[in-house]
Amino acid sequence: MWHLVVPISLEDKKLAITVFSFPPDKRNVGTAAYLNVFSSIFSVLKELQGDGYNVEGLPETSEALIEDILHDKEAQFSSPNLNVAYKMNVREYQALTPYSTALEENWGKPPGNLNADGENLLVYGKQYGNVFIGVQPTFGYEGDPMRLLFSKSASPHHGFAAYYSFVEKIFKADVVLHFGTHGSLEFMPGKQVGMSDVCYPDSLIGNIPNVYYYAANNPSEATIAKRRSYANTISYLTPPAENAGLYKGLKQLSELISSYQSLKDTGRGQQIVSSIISTAKQCNLDKDVDLPEEGVELPTKDRDLVVGKVYNKIMEIESRLLPCGLHVIGEPPTAMEAVATLVNIAALDRVEEGISSLPSILAESVGRNIEEIYRSSDKGVLKDVELLRQITEASRGAITSFVERTTNSKGQVVDVSNKLTSILGFGINEPWIQYLSDTKFYRGDKEKLRVLFEYLGECLRLIVADNEVGSLKQALEGKFVEPGPGGDPIRNPKVLPTGKNIHALDPQSIPTTAAMESAKIVVERLLERQKIDNGGKYPETVALVLWGTDNIKTYGESLAQVLWMIGVNPIADNLGRVNRVEPVSLEELGRPRVDVVVNCSGVFRDLFINQMNLLDRAVKMVAELDEPAELNYVRKHAIEQAETLGIEVREAATRIFSNASGSYSSNINLAVENSSWNDEKQLQDMYLSRKSFAFDSDAPGAGMSEKRQVFEMALSTADATFQNLDSSEISLTDVSHYFDSDPTNLVQNLRKDGKKPSAYIADTTTANAQVRTLSETVRLDARTKLLNPKWYEGMLSSGYEGVREIEKRLTNTVGWSATSGQVDNWVYEEANTTFIQDEDMLKKLMSTNPNSFRKLVQTFLEANGRGYWETEEENIEKLRQLYQEVEDKIEGIDR
Ligand code: BEZ
Ligand code: MG
Repeated sequence: MWHLVVPISLEDKKLAITVFSFPPDKRNVGTAAYLNVFSSIFSVLKELQGDGYNVEGLPETSEALIEDILHDKEAQFSSPNLNVAYKMNVREYQALTPYSTALEENWGKPPGNLNADGENLLVYGKQYGNVFIGVQPTFGYEGDPMRLLFSKSASPHHGFAAYYSFVEKIFKADVVLHFGTHGSLEFMPGKQVGMSDVCYPDSLIGNIPNVYYYAANNPSEATIAKRRSYANTISYLTPPAENAGLYKGLKQLSELISSYQSLKDTGRGQQIVSSIISTAKQCNLDKDVDLPEEGVELPTKDRDLVVGKVYNKIMEIESRLLPCGLHVIGEPPTAMEAVATLVNIAALDRVEEGISSLPSILAESVGRNIEEIYRSSDKGVLKDVELLRQITEASRGAITSFVERTTNSKGQVVDVSNKLTSILGFGINEPWIQYLSDTKFYRGDKEKLRVLFEYLGECLRLIVADNEVGSLKQALEGKFVEPGPGGDPIRNPKVLPTGKNIHALDPQSIPTTAAMESAKIVVERLLERQKIDNGGKYPETVALVLWGTDNIKTYGESLAQVLWMIGVNPIADNLGRVNRVEPVSLEELGRPRVDVVVNCSGVFRDLFINQMNLLDRAVKMVAELDEPAELNYVRKHAIEQAETLGIEVREAATRIFSNASGSYSSNINLAVENSSWNDEKQLQDMYLSRKSFAFDSDAPGAGMSEKRQVFEMALSTADATFQNLDSSEISLTDVSHYFDSDPTNLVQNLRKDGKKPSAYIADTTTANAQVRTLSETVRLDARTKLLNPKWYEGMLSSGYEGVREIEKRLTNTVGWSATSGQVDNWVYEEANTTFIQDEDMLKKLMSTNPNSFRKLVQTFLEANGRGYWETEEENIEKLRQLYQEVEDKIEGIDR
């Protein structure tokens, strides 16, 4: 049948912008990864208005827009409520929402008590002409420990359903625009893919076209949004990265180190080393670097080593990349803001494309090999730490000189291709050649440099190209939006320019050979590190985490790590599909096969079910190899477990776990973010009850089935826990999902000897991959983000949302205390000094976003109350007073 499609004029087009509020609290309205949501909405609406869309009554500024949405003008007294756009009575709700009866099993009769006033369901938001800006309700069980613990899956609550009934049937939206990464709709129960009419995402989205602004670096969850809520995603850029830099004591340290280098042979060496040691201690570096007693006379060689190790640590902090501030849709970074990103793009060898990395070209020019410099610098060999610093500095300088030449006086990239043609191939006139000619790297290979800079020019053009609003307009008119890969723009610049409909990769194509090679390095480093820390013994079992996102970005590195731990190689068929594994012989492996407990995120389960199958077959195969138990820990444990449980070895060799189908996360993050937990035991119960669903390759099509006993037994053998960091924009305390997946304290509780397992984090975000302990990584994260003026000032320049970002880092830090106990006291102490003891800072936080500030204060009090932070009583007293003060202030605002 043919429909006559009458195009709606832009003026009449009805657009429902939907923002999120995670966790459900006023302070969180408009939360989206890396995005300044209200500024973005404001600038998008201005653009649309210019095209003829009707946005009548839109306030003058984005701040006024926030006020409009946040405050219920009708409220007579202090109200936690947002502006109410619509009150839907129960009869109307039931008439508009045919599936509402199905929700009663979990939530009782409507209206219930979420997004409701006792009689009506409440839709929060505000309408401007033909644009409605609404707040998506949340799951609704965040504050309910019992539901968090026991719900294997849930359903949307009535308020959630009412929101979408309103959007589709009362507001009559032509399109919904979900604004930023990410909401809850697409994570509601139902099938993983190919929704049916009893799947909640399908019921909720109804017949409304769904356009979704989504962070370019999150292809896994974007895929869920596409599969489960039919979204046309439009990627947005993460904020421009900067190097973390140094501050306060860390900066002093770097100055001391340079004076040591120039004066070490003048007889002042010992004295400067003593200052370096004491300053390093003040900076709490003593846990990261083995520091001798102050004042003890050291031989020159040992002095150099101490200084080299401190220097290496300082450089690691200094050069860490941070996304600074929050992105505003349609505002690409300036060329100079792109320098740090380009430096990191240039730091990776791209063998398949014939591109050498800049550090390797520079190293070669002085007769060295970059990998060797990385190794020796990691060991603290002073002259190589210094050489690496010079290489880093020269990389930045060469790239800056290049970027300067491709931009106009306003700092905009004008026409890279033309500019490049006039630069490339002009030998000594090439700006990088000019720059390097004044450094020790003047002999750098000109041809390799030319190839590299040609590539960087293309990357620069893509970084500053902006199609985020352009693509939105296309989508709103029902036109084609160009697809493109999602991922890390540093590893894969094809992610750029943003404004694309994000896709992932062919799940059967991973792990690639390159990913396997990288994985081997990381696994061997992990095992080495564990041996050093653990009396020379290999771990018998490693409990590790697989995420969808990082496997997409790295083409399966973490998947490959699992294979390498148990000592198997993936085998691809003629079409490149990885669907078989073969054991590596014990001789070739040169060590025991290490057992694993694999915790797959719900997202990984949805995207990589074939690879779960592959892993399960690999584990079972290894358990059945005829090998001595002391060289095959998978077999050793599976035999023990089979005996105890009275099952076959093959069945006992169950190691690939995730959530129940249609459910995501351990919910520990929700409990921590909402402070709705009693004790650590409760968090651990959540983990066990939600994450103990196993994949079984011997039961094809059976989905995930609960195997809690085997899960607990396998975890009880773990000597180490392990997760991966794969790209610079997202680190341990940036999101709550890392601690949500962390079983460190849980393993300790399950182990017969009660010993705390080692906890490791691999960091493959830079060319020089590292395996650090969890506590080292938490410290690094705290130093480069929460406690770093460059980071928090950058955040504060985003105003309201910036305060929330600061609070979020502290809350996530408490999450790590709760799941792993690996946060040092000084982290909380320094945070308190930075944000509470500094009066100017405190006032700024309180006035910019009182709701987030209240949560920040509450989180400090909670850290102390739960025993994670010991401090002077007067600090706690001050926090209590502040809490009262900010409460009064918030009530005053709402009155
Ligand atoms: C994933 O990609 O697997 C993932 C994404 C967000 C949170 C947790 C896991
Ligand atoms: Mg998420």
